[in-house]
Amino acid sequence: MAHANIYVTRMIPQQNIDALRAVHHVEVNPHDRALTRDELLEAVRGRDAVITLLTDTVDAEVLDAAGPQCRIFANYAVGFNNFDVAAATARKIVMTNTPGVLDDATAAHAWALLFAVTRRISEAERYVRAGRWEGWAPMAFIGQDIDHKTVGVAGLGRIGAKFARKAKAFDMKVIYTDAHPNRMLEDELGATFVDKETLLREADFLSLHLPLTPETRHYLGAREFALMKKTAVLINAARGPLVDERALVTALREKMIWGAGLDVFENEPDLADGLSELENVVVVPHIASATIETRIAMGNIAVGNVLSVLNGERPQNCVNPEGLV
Ligand code: GLV
Ligand code: GLV
Repeated sequence: MAHANIYVTRMIPQQNIDALRAVHHVEVNPHDRALTRDELLEAVRGRDAVITLLTDTVDAEVLDAAGPQCRIFANYAVGFNNFDVAAATARKIVMTNTPGVLDDATAAHAWALLFAVTRRISEAERYVRAGRWEGWAPMAFIGQDIDHKTVGVAGLGRIGAKFARKAKAFDMKVIYTDAHPNRMLEDELGATFVDKETLLREADFLSLHLPLTPETRHYLGAREFALMKKTAVLINAARGPLVDERALVTALREKMIWGAGLDVFENEPDLADGLSELENVVVVPHIASATIETRIAMGNIAVGNVLSVLNGERPQNCVNPEGLV
């Protein structure tokens, strides 16, 4: 399709936009913020392709607002819980995501959070910046070793496997749970498949790498925190609603677990009451894939998916292959 009409719901790396503009007409949200719902409904009207963010809810109303000529919604993210896939399939609209290119960055970020929590980096930095440091002290900011501990991985998919692979460098024992055991990865990583309850009971550190679906919502809540070790650390760089955030605040406050490192939240950008007042939690604003290399690579995939579909070809990633006509 020559000179298709494309909309991008928020600025992504310029070179990605340029690659689209070389062939098609492209408009980008001019604001340095996400579009409101009304703006989104208006912006998609008459477009042949739309590149969206994980903060854009793309449901039947948005798809209908785009119109029957629309061919593809390409998410600039690996997660696509913001997409109503069935509604797109019913309208023969292709939906794509950006898997693969952000696995390393996201896994490394989960480790960064684990280091930060176990060594109390954020808390200690706040202390130094506040001018409260009076010199080396033997019992100040005592954290926990990482080496030789047991790390639990919930979801040994692409990102979970990358996360687990890095645990080898610290001579850790890796246990994991998933819908099915993955013997090939077990051989490679020396990881052991366990059920969820064993994972919760035995993990010194638990990192979530599950997609958000109706089944995984509140994967962790009060019941699960009660099963975890008092010294356990939770890392979530997947999706906020995997965790019942209010129950997490209670667990952290009552020292049912030792700490948490959170990249994602249940109601972004809002945090559950009391969460940001706790010292034993590290909170950062959904930045796991935010490296320049990764963001450009995500753009290349999203743009490639759009160009393929507009050319009548199969896109590299499609979350609703049955929507391909
Ligand atoms: C980020 O959260 C993504 O899904 O890419
Ligand atoms: C710490 O700085 C030490 O020398 O033990």
